[in-house]
Amino acid sequence: MSRSEPPAGRHAVVCGAGAWLPPRGVSNAELTRRLDTTEEWITSRTGIEHRHLVDGGLSTGDLAVEAGLLAMKSAGTSAVDAVVLATTTPDRLCPATAPDVAARLGLTGVAAFDVSAVCTGFLYGLASAAGLIASGLADHVLLIGAEAFSTIIDPADRTTAVIFGDGAGAVVLRAGNADEPGAVGPCVLGSDGGLGDLISIPGGGARGRSSGRDRTPNDEYFTMRGKDVYRHAVHRITDAATTAVDRAGWHLAEVDRFVPHQANQRISTAVAERLGIEPARQVSNIARVGNTAAASIPLLLAQAAEAGQVRPRDRVLLAAFGGGLTWGAATLSWPDITAYSAIGSSPAAVPAA
Ligand code: COA
Repeated sequence: MSRSEPPAGRHAVVCGAGAWLPPRGVSNAELTRRLDTTEEWITSRTGIEHRHLVDGGLSTGDLAVEAGLLAMKSAGTSAVDAVVLATTTPDRLCPATAPDVAARLGLTGVAAFDVSAVCTGFLYGLASAAGLIASGLADHVLLIGAEAFSTIIDPADRTTAVIFGDGAGAVVLRAGNADEPGAVGPCVLGSDGGLGDLISIPGGGARGRSSGRDRTPNDEYFTMRGKDVYRHAVHRITDAATTAVDRAGWHLAEVDRFVPHQANQRISTAVAERLGIEPARQVSNIARVGNTAAASIPLLLAQAAEAGQVRPRDRVLLAAFGGGLTWGAATLSWPDITAYSAIGSSPAAVPAA
C-alpha cells in the first residue's frame, strides 16, 4: 500500500459513528444449559459474560442498515457516495451485501462493495475508504462492519459458540485535512495465507465445490485453532500497532485510547501490556458483546464515544487480527461528534443532506 500523503483536503476524516445490536441477549448461564461448559471457564478464558445473537431471520444486511442509519444520523448527512461493508457473514455468497444495504439506505446508484478480511475487515475497509476519498472517487464514505456471526457457528462446538456474538458498527468518513479532529492516520495491513487453516470455513467455496466430494453440514461451519490463533494474534497486533504509531509520528505514551478488536480479553490485555498501555487507556466491551469479528472495532468506537470513554481530539489506536491470517492497525484523532448506539430498536430517520 502506498504511503504517500493524499492531497490537501482529500484526507479521510471520521464525521459520524453508530452501532446496533440485535435484541436477543444471551448470557453465559444460558449457554451452559446446552453446552458442556461453565460460566467460570468462559469468563476466565475470554472475558465474555454476554452477547447478542440474531434470530427470526435477522441478517447481516439488517444489522448493517441499522448501524448505517445511526452513523448517518451522527454525521448529520445522508449524502454518501460509497458504501463499504466489512463482513464475514454476507447475506448470500453472491452478490455482495453492500449494494443491498446501500439501496435500503436510499443510496441506490452509489459505489458499494464488501470487504472480506474476517476480524480485520473493518481496518481493511478503513484503508479502502480512505483510498476512495484520497483518490477523489468519493467525498463521503459509509463504512460498516456487520456480522451475523452466529449463523456460521456450529451450535454444538463449545470452543467457538461461547466466543462470538452478532452486531454492527459504522462510521461516516468525509474528505478533509490531516490535521483536523477525526483525521485517519496511517493504516498498516498484513496477511499470511500460509496460516489460512487456523481460522476457516472449509466448505461452501469453489475448492470444496470443484472437489466433487460430498458436502456435510459441518463443512459450512466456522473452525478455529484457538491456541495457535492466540499466539500469532498477540505478536502480529503488537507489531502492527507499534508500526502505525511510529508512522503517525506519535509515541505509544501519547496514545489516549487503545481500541483493539475484541477477540478475547486476554489477547487485548497481553497486547496492551507489550505496548506499555495501562488499563486506564484501554477500552473494552467484550464482556457485553463477545467477539463480533468485523463489527467489533466500530461497535466499540460508537459505544465508547457515546459513553464519553473516547473524547474529541483523543489520539486513538486501532488494531485487529483475524482469519486469513490478516492483521492491521491504524491511528485516528477522535472527532467532536455525537455517536449513537442502540439495542434492538430501529433508530430515528436520517436527516436530509
Ligand atoms: N468450556 C469448557 N472447556 C472448554 C471450552 C469451553 N467452552 N472450550 C474448550 N475447552 C477445553 C478444551 O477442550 C481443552 O480441554 P482439554 O485440555 O481436555 O483438551 C481445554 O478447555 C483447554 O483448551 P484450550 O484451547 O487449550 O484453551 P485456551 O486456554 O487456549 O482457551 C480459547 C481457548 C479459544 C479461548 C483461546 O485459545 C483463544 O482465545 N484463542 C484465540 C481465539 C480468538 O480470539 N479467535 C478470534 C480471532 S479474531
